[in-house]
Amino acid sequence: MRMVGRKVLITGAGTGMGLEAAKRFTDQGSRVIMVARNGTRLRNEAERLPGAVAHPCDITDAEQVARLLSFVSSEHSDLDTVLLNAAVTHTYRLFGTEDAYAHAEVEMRTNYLSAIRLINGLVPLLHQQAARKQTDPADPALIVTTSGVAFAPDITNPTYSATKAALHSLVQSVRLQLERDGSPIKVFEFMAPLVDSPFSAGVVSDRKMPATDAIAALFDGMEREELELHVGMTADVHQALRRSSDAAVRAVNAATGG
Ligand SMILES: NC(=O)c1ccc[n+]([C@@H]2O[C@H](COP(=O)([O-])OP(=O)(O)OC[C@H]3O[C@@H](n4cnc5c(N)ncnc54)[C@H](OP(=O)(O)O)[C@@H]3O)[C@@H](O)[C@H]2O)c1
Repeated sequence: MRMVGRKVLITGAGTGMGLEAAKRFTDQGSRVIMVARNGTRLRNEAERLPGAVAHPCDITDAEQVARLLSFVSSEHSDLDTVLLNAAVTHTYRLFGTEDAYAHAEVEMRTNYLSAIRLINGLVPLLHQQAARKQTDPADPALIVTTSGVAFAPDITNPTYSATKAALHSLVQSVRLQLERDGSPIKVFEFMAPLVDSPFSAGVVSDRKMPATDAIAALFDGMEREELELHVGMTADVHQALRRSSDAAVRAVNAATGG
């Protein structure tokens, strides 16, 4: 897949892997629309990237998402790539004093339910752009960041893993439905390993991959058109899962200290 000259919407673009992806797309001649809640941070980062636009938005808020979709439709109808990457995780211990239900509710709303709303709203925009560009097909792409913990849970973040397992399932349904519908959209799943970013601050481990390396692996995989990308340690977890699901759970938790 051609990775240059794209118009890309990235959620969670103010920090970590989303920001690294924004930089890499920009370096390769693409223009990015950066989405996250912290508008000040987002604008500061966007100012450093030629052609980048910051659009603060809480992806769990239906009205803000509607405004985002309307903004993209009216101002960026050349959108051909979406990277759904924003997420939250809560580090706590099951059966301690914390309200596991409350944690899971926020995680599920942010990581899974918001993706359903965004995919429903953004796929038609990708189709419109693909239809307009019939002479030079733009290889429309939907990329969703999940995790190795979609295969086996990490008990240091005990309710987060299930949100990524749910998202993994959703991505597979979306890919197959679009394929059956004859859609040109390629659906990539970026199954990231443990990465050094604000997200993993609560995890003490010497196995964190730098965010730049994880994004380099994403770009390599997309160029090869590998739709389900098992980056770094995720490949080991996937192998362990083929032996036994217990082996996979132990492999994840050996890395995270869980
Ligand atoms: N780091 C890891 O070890 C690791 C491992 C596997 C998978 N992942 C996945 O990789 C992705 C990126 O994470 P990261 O490691 O790069 O962490 P990160 O730097 O914390 O990035 C997450 C981003 O999501 C944004 N966000 C959170 N809630 C949001 C909301 N309601 N609306 C809009 N934006 C929201 C945050 O910005 P604001 O706070 O400004 O909204 C932040 O920029 C996530 O999907 C994560 O699940 C991470």
